[in-house]
Amino acid sequence: MPYQSAEEILNDSILYYRGEPVGTRAACDPKLSAPNYEECFIRDFVPGALLFLTRGDYPIVRNFLWRVMEMRAQQPVMSGHMRATGLMPASFRVVTEADGEERLLADFGELAIGRVAPVDSAMWWLFLLWCYVRVSGDQVLADDPRIQECIVQTLNLYLKESFESSPTMLVPDGSFMIDRRMGVYGHPLEIQALFYGTLRIAQQLLHQTPETARLQEILHSRVNALRSYVRLYYRMDRQRLNEIHRYQSEEFGYDAKNLLNVYPESIPEWIDDWLTPGSGYLVGNLGPSLIDFRFFAQGNLLAVLFRLATEEEAQELMRLYEAHWDTLIGEVPLKICYPAVTRKAWEFVTGSDPKNVAWSYHNGGNWPVLIWPFVAAARLAGREDLAERVLAGFGERLLNDRWPEYYDGHRGSLIGRRANFLQVWSASGFLLAHDLLYHPQRWKTFQKMLFED
Ligand code: GLC
Repeated sequence: MPYQSAEEILNDSILYYRGEPVGTRAACDPKLSAPNYEECFIRDFVPGALLFLTRGDYPIVRNFLWRVMEMRAQQPVMSGHMRATGLMPASFRVVTEADGEERLLADFGELAIGRVAPVDSAMWWLFLLWCYVRVSGDQVLADDPRIQECIVQTLNLYLKESFESSPTMLVPDGSFMIDRRMGVYGHPLEIQALFYGTLRIAQQLLHQTPETARLQEILHSRVNALRSYVRLYYRMDRQRLNEIHRYQSEEFGYDAKNLLNVYPESIPEWIDDWLTPGSGYLVGNLGPSLIDFRFFAQGNLLAVLFRLATEEEAQELMRLYEAHWDTLIGEVPLKICYPAVTRKAWEFVTGSDPKNVAWSYHNGGNWPVLIWPFVAAARLAGREDLAERVLAGFGERLLNDRWPEYYDGHRGSLIGRRANFLQVWSASGFLLAHDLLYHPQRWKTFQKMLFED
């Protein structure tokens, strides 16, 4: 029953442009919490697209890839500022003109709350391009000069030198799944995991020509530097915590150990008991005198999928989930970040955002869509037991609650206060997770889309 209901939501959500499927709307709820949920968000389409691909249903993904690429030309001048062509829209809609003609209308964040630029869109687009080519065998699409040019423009934007002193990518607050102010500016893990995937895919898809030789060189060194950096500095386990606990600070010169000058006094109180022996994760963010110790699920799970995390780190992550099943998985999986910021910290970090109060929405809420990267990561780590456990009763619960967007509370037991119902990625995330675990052929196809270590 839940499977069938989720299928119906996914089918109802398909957007058509001149008779062709081009994507899926974010929610089918007739009472939406914001009007842009009618649109196809690039990131929200991902679980549905992966599902279509594992089922051999290619046209919708192919159309999506073309159309999104073309929509880059619609980028407006924002606050008098003309941005690079490598940026892709956050979302788009199909509009019917007065003369009955259909048109695609993209939003690059100029309509979104907080006017945030979607840094992750082009990264997800490239990931879907890679998955599509791997699974369908349609190399002709990847070889098309327009697609090749698009990859180059994306790389030119994403590899542009700025003021970073590390191989990670510097981004503004709210430029990815967490698209509101949440103290995630700087070098958030989710973007670094996606960036790593982007660079590895570009290495594979970009043609080797004299014009791209320099870009290939940059790609090569950046991929290696990024991997080593994240594995070294984002890792958190008992041993690393001990090291930081005993750090010297204010070190000058080449022999410094505490390169980012992190003060041990900044270690939050909750982490000592919480970080059980044998468990570990990658921290949320890093900067000068900054470790954001918060645990962010999506970044950690994507790091496992893209093999940015080592096998050992994947095992540690699964042990962390096991040790904290009640809080990190809860009644309805999965917690987006832990712990929530409360009181004064909430005022300061979120700008007193009522949607992001403690244990709600992005601030410690539970998001059903995160079930698919969890199931995939658990399978890659050989922890099918946890994948089964997370899915047990999940579909029934979501069906009963009408497929909410998110849940609130310490254990994710309350339907999100301002959550949409019939949220499409809650449904497609469930379908994908289910198939990855219970459909061996689809799991095999899915594995083709991942890279080797
Ligand atoms: C919210 C989420 C964002 C998602 C959008 C549409 O803004 O934070 O990640 O893409 O809703 O579902």
